[in-house]
Amino acid sequence: MDGASEKPKDGPQDRLAAALAEDMAAVNVLIRQRMSSEHAPRIPEVTAHLIEAGGKRLRPMLVLAAAHVCGSPGPDAVKLAATVEFIHTATLLHDDVVDESQRRRGRPTANLLWDNKSSVLVGDYLFARAFQLMVEPGSLRVLDILANASATIAEGEVLQLTAAQDLRTTEATYLQVVRGKTAALFSAATEAGAVIAGAPEAQVRALFDYGDALGIAFQIADDLLDYGGSAAAIGKNTGDDFRERKLTLPVIKAVAKADAEERAFWIRVIEKGDQREGDLQHALALMARHGAMEAARADALDWSSRARASLEALPDHPLRGMLSDLAAYVVSRLT
Ligand code: IPE
Ligand code: IPE
Ligand code: MG
Ligand code: MG
Repeated sequence: MDGASEKPKDGPQDRLAAALAEDMAAVNVLIRQRMSSEHAPRIPEVTAHLIEAGGKRLRPMLVLAAAHVCGSPGPDAVKLAATVEFIHTATLLHDDVVDESQRRRGRPTANLLWDNKSSVLVGDYLFARAFQLMVEPGSLRVLDILANASATIAEGEVLQLTAAQDLRTTEATYLQVVRGKTAALFSAATEAGAVIAGAPEAQVRALFDYGDALGIAFQIADDLLDYGGSAAAIGKNTGDDFRERKLTLPVIKAVAKADAEERAFWIRVIEKGDQREGDLQHALALMARHGAMEAARADALDWSSRARASLEALPDHPLRGMLSDLAAYVVSRLT
């Protein structure tokens, strides 16, 4: 898997993958079966390109781990695990068009290899396949969770679109964006896993809270890596957010502390979009001057701690420990 280069082989996600190997094999079979199309060859071309590149498969593992901790998963949990990976893959296809990104999972993006039209339409197809799959377990409650998450993700992406290039964007708006575009699918995955396993309400709630906090920590970390990571390690290009003039957390924090001269710089590069050679480095220097990266990192650590604390309400289970380690791991890349 191309994506494997970004983590140590014995990291928490590898231990989760090992513990869930049997279920994940079934998930991967289902994904392969359902990502194809007999009628439109462009669909399997694009889906194979993205799905065969791997990806961490975090969200399906969250469904399965939640179900295991609360009871036993069974074939319905496997279907829901494949469902969330389809939703995720659909949003990645759309996101790379919107962000004009060129690398994903260590490969050129589908929008670069084919075109925007193919990415948008194949993304729609995967969304529709996700809905076909999520109906199959016959749980209206699970349908409610996943349908709501799908709407919330789209809302988050649209909110981000209108907040981009706007220096007045607050940390509260940023939180709303990341809760929507990223955490909504994490929390839906853990909540749906708990529900399908027949968990009591307190456990369903705890797993929702875990997924929500984990997703927020994960996205803050992703946003920090866009400024400080290496393209080889994350399988995506860095600096995309600056180029796209996005108000991610470290930028919001640096803008809040800017003096008049610094403010003029941010207005030029973010609001006016007049970006020149060396501007990214200057933005990094301003963030460093105000401790913006450290402060954003501290926020990510705080959300990671909240995720771990949510797990205390759950029954003792080896997978509970692995979920806790996963929450620590998503922010460990930052330290
Ligand atoms: C990428 O998610 C999108 C974000 C929410 C930042 P992942 O980092 O989980 O992507 P893959 O599936 O492993 O490629
Ligand atoms: C990821 O958003 C969230 C979704 C795909 C819905 P980003 O645009 O921040 O993630 P990357 O950096 O492209 O993976
Ligand atoms: Mg993107
Ligand atoms: Mg995006």
